[in-house]
Amino acid sequence: MAHKYRVEERLGWRRWVTPQLLRDKPVHRWYVFPHSFTGELVHALIDEWDLGKKDRILDPFVGAGTTLLAAKEREIPASGFDLSPLAVLAARTKVANYNISNLKKAWKSVKKTFYNVNRNKVSRPYPELVQKALPGRVLEVFDALARIIDEVEMFETDRDLLRLALLSILPLYSSAIATGGWLKWVEKQVDEKSIPEALTARVEMMLHDLQEVQLPRLPGWQAVQADARQLPVQDESYSAVITSPPYPNRHDYTRVFGIELMFGFIGWEETRQLRYQSFHSHPEARPTRPGANDYKSPTALTKAVKNLREKNLEPRIISMIEGYFLDLYLCLREMKRVCRQGAKIAFVVGNARYCGETILVDELTAEVGEQAGLKCSKLLAVRYRGNSAQQMGRYGRSPSRESVVIFDKS
Ligand SMILES: C[S@@+](CC[C@H](N)C(=O)[O-])C[C@H]1O[C@@H](n2cnc3c(N)ncnc32)[C@H](O)[C@@H]1O
Repeated sequence: MAHKYRVEERLGWRRWVTPQLLRDKPVHRWYVFPHSFTGELVHALIDEWDLGKKDRILDPFVGAGTTLLAAKEREIPASGFDLSPLAVLAARTKVANYNISNLKKAWKSVKKTFYNVNRNKVSRPYPELVQKALPGRVLEVFDALARIIDEVEMFETDRDLLRLALLSILPLYSSAIATGGWLKWVEKQVDEKSIPEALTARVEMMLHDLQEVQLPRLPGWQAVQADARQLPVQDESYSAVITSPPYPNRHDYTRVFGIELMFGFIGWEETRQLRYQSFHSHPEARPTRPGANDYKSPTALTKAVKNLREKNLEPRIISMIEGYFLDLYLCLREMKRVCRQGAKIAFVVGNARYCGETILVDELTAEVGEQAGLKCSKLLAVRYRGNSAQQMGRYGRSPSRESVVIFDKS
């Protein structure tokens, strides 16, 4: 089939669209989101587009902040937005400016109170899911440590770092493990007495990273909680966008990070609301969206949906697929609104497959972006993933493409 958009293979970038390399990189490794791309991808696009200190980069799905941090490594100002308070904390903490001696002092004060804290009672009633994942004394110790971090006098940036450190060790003790896009319950024997040591190791690693990387201590990098379909931005100030929306693979970040969200930020009901409002990449989303009278479902999508109906795919997955492209349209319309003339925009997306029917997410993204008034210059095909064992058994092998869709605002 002839492609409507120019497809250029860049398989040399394939390791840059999975989070693996982030796990060894100073600062990036403080918190890693599943399905993240790496700093290398951001640096390559910065070079290709010849961006410099006068530019401004945007990531409307900032996740754990890879784009922001990579932009800071190049001293290019950048802003990020995300619906999730956990993502905003992770991203903001990675690009904050620290005074290391203040941070060390704050950490010393926290450590001093570690052992004389009352661990017998938790400070608030945690949702059942949190109590189940962190049973008994484990939750008491985490709660006590969170309380100390909240109460000791220190700069807010230092408090953020310590909160992130505590959240990042939670999976070591939780009986609910994120595997890919799901939470899996496991039997786990853990010793709650080791939690302060685990936190210490984590904070020491973070201090080590800060000393090693020497990022510029300047203003210019921020992460804010907001919806990518309706950004709190008034002007056309961005010269580039490097981002990755959630893939339409049914994974729900409010479930994957449910324990962290309900331990550290919000209650059960608010978590549910966040789930509803998130991008329509999982079937439980039912977001309130800005108006989109001007959106028209692409013909290829209408055709794919018709085939999926005939194959009896669950109606809520079909709604998810349709809602996903409407969401992409709304977000790309925002990119057009907040970017300068000549801006470059990169969306990292992955094709999906349901009932043997491939949804060409990259080509459809290009099409809805053009509907939103952007010009798609090319699709960089960077990786081919094998499809799921279930799909493979029933429909044969058909690798699924991951691409970087490049637009210009021209
Ligand atoms: C693929 S992840 C981004 C990973 C990121 N590139 C990184 O470096 O970690 C997608 C993100 O989109 C966020 N998200 C989902 N719906 C959103 C919405 N409507 N507006 C903004 N962010 C949203 C999720 O919370 C998640 O953090």
